[in-house]
Order: sequence, then structure tokens, then C-alpha cells
Amino acid sequence: MDIRTQPLAAAPAPVLRADYAPPVWQVPEIALEFDLDPARTQVTGRLSVVRAGDGPLRLDGDGLTADSVMVDGVAADWAMDGDQLVVDLPGNAHLVEIRVTIAPEANTQLMGLYASDGLLCTQCEAEGFRRIMFFPDRPDVLARYAVRLVADRARYPVLLSNGDHVDSGTLPDGRHYADWRDPFPKPSYLFALVAGDLAVNRDSFVTGSGKVVELGIWVREHDLGRTGHAMHALKTAMAWDERVYGREYDLGVFNIVAVSDFNFGAMENKGLNIFNSRYVLADPDTATDQDYDAVATVVAHEYFHNWSGNRVTCRDWFQLSLKEGFTVFRDQQYSADQGSAAVKRIEDVRVLRAAQFPEDGGPLAHPIRPDSYIEISNFYTATIYNKGAEVIRMMHTMLGEAAFRAGSDLYFDRHDGTAATCEDFVAAMEDASGHDLGLFRLWYRQAGTPRVHAALDFDAPGGRARLRLQQVVPATPGQPDKQAMPMPLRIALFGEVSGTKLLPEQTVMLDGAHQEILFEGIGERPVLSINRGFSAPVTIESDRSAADLAFLSAHDDDPFARYEAMQQLMVDTLVDDVATGNADLAPVIAAVKATLADPALEPAFVAEAVLLPFEAYLGDQMPVVDPQAVTRAWDRLRGALGAELIADWRGVYAGMAAGGNSLEAAGRGMRRLRGVALGYIVASGAADGPALAKAQYEAAGTMTDRQTALTALAMTASAERDAAFAAFHARYADNALVLDKWFQTQALAPRSDTIDVVERLARHPDFVMTNPNRLRSLVGAFAVNQRAFHDPSGRGYRFLGDMVVAIDRINPQTAAKLVPPLGRWSRFDAARGAMMRAELERVLGTEGLSKDVFEQLSKSLG
Ligand code: ARG
Ligand code: ZN
Repeated sequence: MDIRTQPLAAAPAPVLRADYAPPVWQVPEIALEFDLDPARTQVTGRLSVVRAGDGPLRLDGDGLTADSVMVDGVAADWAMDGDQLVVDLPGNAHLVEIRVTIAPEANTQLMGLYASDGLLCTQCEAEGFRRIMFFPDRPDVLARYAVRLVADRARYPVLLSNGDHVDSGTLPDGRHYADWRDPFPKPSYLFALVAGDLAVNRDSFVTGSGKVVELGIWVREHDLGRTGHAMHALKTAMAWDERVYGREYDLGVFNIVAVSDFNFGAMENKGLNIFNSRYVLADPDTATDQDYDAVATVVAHEYFHNWSGNRVTCRDWFQLSLKEGFTVFRDQQYSADQGSAAVKRIEDVRVLRAAQFPEDGGPLAHPIRPDSYIEISNFYTATIYNKGAEVIRMMHTMLGEAAFRAGSDLYFDRHDGTAATCEDFVAAMEDASGHDLGLFRLWYRQAGTPRVHAALDFDAPGGRARLRLQQVVPATPGQPDKQAMPMPLRIALFGEVSGTKLLPEQTVMLDGAHQEILFEGIGERPVLSINRGFSAPVTIESDRSAADLAFLSAHDDDPFARYEAMQQLMVDTLVDDVATGNADLAPVIAAVKATLADPALEPAFVAEAVLLPFEAYLGDQMPVVDPQAVTRAWDRLRGALGAELIADWRGVYAGMAAGGNSLEAAGRGMRRLRGVALGYIVASGAADGPALAKAQYEAAGTMTDRQTALTALAMTASAERDAAFAAFHARYADNALVLDKWFQTQALAPRSDTIDVVERLARHPDFVMTNPNRLRSLVGAFAVNQRAFHDPSGRGYRFLGDMVVAIDRINPQTAAKLVPPLGRWSRFDAARGAMMRAELERVLGTEGLSKDVFEQLSKSLG
């Protein structure tokens, strides 16, 4: 039989939310013993199982074979049904002991127990525990864990697991052991262990009720000096969660471990968070200000999961947004409280628009509570996380701070120690506030970004303004017909002449498809400010003129709305220019100039406000994306802003140098604006642009200044560019996280030859296919670089397709995340669309594809 012509044995079957059934057996206790070795780790599991329904005991496994199975001390009859181990048990309570052998160093998927950089560590969410031990690997089976780790003491001096350390000691042959006990019942996805030669940054935190918590951040010895920021963030987050949500930490220990090979950001394992090292390590020489923020946000996020995720977990994986949406909302609130709330909101919306809106408008669109999946790993998406957070935020806006807090308290009280559903959360909010969230629940069921059309008429003699709102929720795969969804829209009217707010801001509930709101006593032509603070995750369509938008960009007193007006003005201008090639750029140039000159604005805000929208976002505004036309318009506006305001940029560039290397918010804001100014100076084509950037590169006292100089140089074809990239590589040759920046900056460069550079970098000795950070920094970054990826030759598509095939053999989860850019084929012209589809089909024809990649490809082809 010729296996090359064999299609996928059978398309993997989807799991349906509607099929949920409670577990037939519960496992209140489990004792696990690990005899750790990278090539051959022996695991013994002792499961106390208790009957909860009719049927045999079915335990999930993935690539496991049992060495032995005993029931109540006696060798048992058992069978495999696919990957499940099945044992018929006569009674209602038994002790089942299972032994398996696994090979962590052969585990390149980075799910289950694996080796990274000399460490042994685990990742179990969502379904990695079944690669370690046979178990009912579902989040509604909560067990108390007692863990013994045994390993060679020289190679693995540090042995960590969840909960409290209860004992350790010496064994023959240079081996030692450590015992850990977690008093809180938890689902298997929260199990973790780490073994290795690690150094620790120790600190402590005293909780509101006076309990001392030992904190530890565990890293390689040479990274110890880079853990201070993460520790600071952790302590700040612990205090914040007590103050804002009334949530105290519940164990005597909280450990964080940094590992270099990790499939995503970090993992909230009970008492033992495991992190991608890029979200732990930071010092001024190697981390940008943005990296500092990302570290603090992720540390807080994982810490907050201790309540929203661990104390109250998810009944099934369809409820994933219950913990992720809520926890992202909590980390957004936390970060907003640490610095400028306005700038934080702008950044969050940028992320939503760059990552979630395209998902919601494409073949992989799904509601924040999906109805089915083939591989749950594919559902750790911007929709579940970021749109999920927006849905929680809308409830916060509708209920108000106090009622929202009462709802959250009720939710934690009611469901502590259990596995809950999204519906439980909404019901708690409803019960605590008395607010009817009946139709609001549609946000959990319906995918797609609603479009809200807003038209404002002014009746001057009557002194009345009438706002007409109209809502459309677009069709998405499997959901052709949608219902209008209730949403809070924060609205204000500004007087065109007076420049002031005519009425206090109102929060209008748009409850149906159409709505009219009448404003009385309006004495001058009003300008509409709508969806202020981005109160609803929707697209607003209005007929506001360039003049109105420029006016709002100068006068709106809601910083987000002010930013948004400028963005909309830029988008309208660029879309016009894409169509005509000669749009009037003057209003944007004047508005940017005014923003730069406004002394009342903080530099960090100005930096956000004057940046052009991403090219990909512009593409999203067009019925058919023409990447070359977008690039041409974008370059024209960027060049014109640079050239016409060159004196302003130079003034800002010089003035912002006063921020120096300070890590305080003010210094960081100034560095950010200075970097934006440098970008515009280089984009202006000024003869000294590359030299100026190179001088900044050489003088830089922080990674932020070094990185912005490098980013500016990456746009140019210059000797300075080549020299700076070579110097950067040489300087950081032994720091993988910084080398990621070297790859990423080149992959994101807005240049026509980026595709050549990327193909060359894929053959670079530092391009390591087994490290997800490296893959994301080259391949992931390239695939979101619209002008490079959509090169008319189709080379970009082929490069990505080849990468998906190659990476899938190593790490299916990471490979699957690279598929979505190809799935956007229907948005492009016929020639590109055909090439993209052909690439998806070619990859789908590859033998032995993972179900991760299979699901993404088959859904992308529609
Ligand atoms: N719960 C983790 C977090 O958001 C992420 C786990 C991601 N798992 C995955 N299979 N992608 O904090
Ligand atoms: Zn999370």
C-alpha cells in the first residue's frame, strides 16, 4: 500500500458543548511519584476513585502505555479503548495504581513533561496531564495531590511541585527526593512539577489577614539579576487583588519558574506558575519598556488566576473564557491602575483590532463560548481572551463598580472549590445587582464583530439633536442569522463653536437593531463622540467629516475618544488614498501637528495618537484588500507626515531626550514619543535619518532606545542598518530573548525585500525550530507583516506553508497558530486568494498532520 496517497485516516471528530455529561468517576485524592530522568521517567499514580454514575472507569492517556495496573493491591484486568485505559470496577470506591514510563527529552510538543535547557518541567493545560499519567483529564474532576519527586541531586538539585513542601531527603546513588502536598483540590490541568539547577530570588508577602507567603522566582543563575521587576509586579498584584477584589492568597508558598521553551505566555499551576522566560526576565540592557509592561501584566494575570481559574475553575473547556476573559479583564484593570489608564486602554484596543477583529471576521470565527472544537488548544484565541475580557468589561460598565464587585464576590462565594460555567458568572452578576442580563447573554453565543451605524441630525431652530443607531451583527461560519445584542455606548456631544461638551456624558444602552435618542437644548451644531473609552467591542460607522474628526482629536475630553478620532481621520484619509491615489493629507498633518504641540497631553498618549494604524487594519476596512495599494498610501502619508512636520519631529526628538534612562512612567513616556519621532524623521527621507538612528543606537542606555533605533533603521536600505544589526547580533549572541528581537525586527520591517531577508534568516544557525519564541519571532512576525507576506509572487504563502508542515512534526500547537494568516484568502484579490487556498490545500494534503493543524486548515478552507 502506498501510504503517500492515503488521506487522513478519518477526519478527527469534533467535541460538542451540547454533549457535556458529568464524570462517571471522581478522583478525590491522587498520590504521584516521579522517578525523574530525561530519557526514562517512571511515574506511579495512585488514584482513589469514587463512583459518581454508571459505567467502567475510563482514564485518558495520550501516547501512554501502562506498565502495570493494580486495583486495591491486586493486578487488574484492563483494556485500551483508543487512547483510553478502561477498567471495570465492581464497587463504589477503589484504589487504582498505575505505572507508566515516559521520555521527557523526546517530547518536542512541550505538552506534558518535557526537557528544556537542562530542566524538566510540565505543561498540562489543557490536555497535557494525560501525557504523564492515565487520568480523567477534564477540568470537572478535582483531586488533592500528594507528589513525590525523585531525581539525581547533582543534575536536579531543585525539585518543585504544587502546594506546600512537606519533606525532602537523601537517597542512595546520589539521588534525593522532595514531597509536596497541595491542600486544595484541583483539576489535572493545574498540576505542575519542575526539576533542575535553579537559582532563586526569594521574598515574602504578608496578606491582609496577616499570613506570610514565601515568594520565589526560580531562574538560571545568570538570570537572577533580571528577576526584580517580576517580583515587584507579583507583590503589587497580590496587594491589588486584596484591595480591588477582596481576594487573598491561600497557600504559604508562591513560586514562579522561568523556562525557555514554552508554547505560550505562562501557566497558572496552583502555587507553581511556570512562565515563558520572556515574561519573567527584564533588565534595562535587555528588555524594552514594553517588555517590562508585558512582564508585569503576565505575572499579574497568572497570579489572579489563583481565584479566577483555580479556586473557581471551568466545568469544561467550552467555558474557557470564564477564567480567561475575566482574568484578562482583571489584568487590564491592574495595569491601568499602575500607570496611564488612557494609554493602557488604547493599547488594549489596538491588540483587539489587530488580533481579534480579523479572527471574528474570518473562517475561524467562534463565540467566546464555542459550541464545538476538534483540538482545544486551537481555542486559546484572541476571541476567548480579549473579546472575553471586553464582554466582562461591558458588564462592569452596565452594572457600575460597586454592583460588579458584589457580583464577583457572589460568584466566588457560590462556586469556590468547584468547576463552574459562564452562565454561573452571568447569573451571579445578575443576582447581586438586580440587573437583567437576559439578552446580554447573546454575547456568549454569537460570533462576529457588530457594526453600529450612527447618524446625528441637528435641528437648529428647535435646539434638538437626534441620534439614530443601527446595529448589524455579521454572519459567521455556522451562524448565518444573528440577533442584535445589547451594548453600552458611552456618548457625548461637543459644540462645534464653543469646543465644549454640550451635555454630560451618557451611557446609552443600545438594546435592539435600531434606536433613536433625542437630545434637547442643543444651542450649536453638535459633534458626536461615541463609544468613548471603547465601551463596546464593535465597529462604529458614522458620517463624521474630516473636520469633525480633527475637531474631536483636539477637543474630546475622553482620551480614548480623542485617540480614536485621530485614528478614524487617518483611516478615512488612507482609505480614500488607496482608492484615488491623491487624497487630501492636509487634515491629518494639521491634526498631528496640533497634537504634538498640545502641552496638556502626556508624551505616552501623544506617541499613541500620532502613530498610523497598521497596514493590516487598513486592509480590514476594504471590501477587497489590495496590499500594494495600502502600502503605497501608507508610505505616502507616513512620508508626508515626516517631511512636512520635520521641524516638529526634530523638536520633539530633542525635547524628549530629557527622559533619559529613567524607568519611571514619565521617562518611559518620553522614550516612547522620542522613538516615534525618530521613526517619522527616518520616514521623511531626511538625509541624516539613518545616521541619527545609528547615533541613537550607539548612545543607547536602554534596550528601548536601542530597539527603536533598530526598528527605524530596519526601514532603510543603508550601511547604518547593516552595521547596527551586525553589532546587535554580536552583542547579544548568547541571549536568546534578545536574539528574538533581532529576528523579529527584520521580519516586521516595512520593506519590499523583507521576504528575501526572512528566507535567509530561516537558514541562519540561530533559527531554532524547537523553540516557540524563535518561531514566533521570525515566522509569526513575518505572517502579520502585510506587505511582506502578501508579496504578489506568492513566495510568502509558500514559505509559511513549508514552515507549518515542518513545525507540525515538532510542535503541533505552535504550527497551528501560524495557519490563520493563510485562512484570510477570501479577503484578497482573486490571484492572491487562489494562491493562498492552494497553499492551504497543499498543506492539508500532507500525510500525518496533527489534528491541531488539520482543524485550522479545514476550517480555513471553509
Ligand atoms: N492558562 C494559561 C493562561 O492564559 C494559558 C494556557 C494556554 N494553553 C494552551 N494550550 N494554549 O494564563
Ligand atoms: Zn490566563
